[in-house]
Amino acid sequence: MYSDKVMEHFNSPHNMGEIEDADGVGTVGNAKCGDIMRMYLKVEDGRIADVRFKTFGCGAAVATSSMATDLVKGKTLEEALTITNKAVMEALDGLPPAKIHCSVLAEEAIQAAIWDYAKKNGLHFDGLQEPTDDEHYEHMDNQE
Ligand code: FES
Repeated sequence: MYSDKVMEHFNSPHNMGEIEDADGVGTVGNAKCGDIMRMYLKVEDGRIADVRFKTFGCGAAVATSSMATDLVKGKTLEEALTITNKAVMEALDGLPPAKIHCSVLAEEAIQAAIWDYAKKNGLHFDGLQEPTDDEHYEHMDNQE
């Protein structure tokens, strides 16, 4: 059902954890499955110098978070914004149809973290949408 790449990233996720003094943090959730993803960014000279994630969700959500962080690390914010859930899925050699929404969550989490960074720094990026209010996900702070 899952590609070897998905299993690899699920078993040994890259960039898992949090960044204490992150420059941007974004949290998104999927109301249907209840899964939650949070991304932390460290930005230097307009580039993503470091990125971490915490995912409270399914195996595919962990694998797509891991791959999404790999894809955006070292990129400029503009480049990171062009990374779609399709790119994440392709890099993972595909996902079963029922798990496509997990990759959408990864794309949204990156965008939400960039939104937070942009808001704090008075920046504007064309096409970047304000994420859904993340107050519903506060309980994630108590998860380890
Ligand atoms: Fe919802 Fe994977 S089942 S994020």
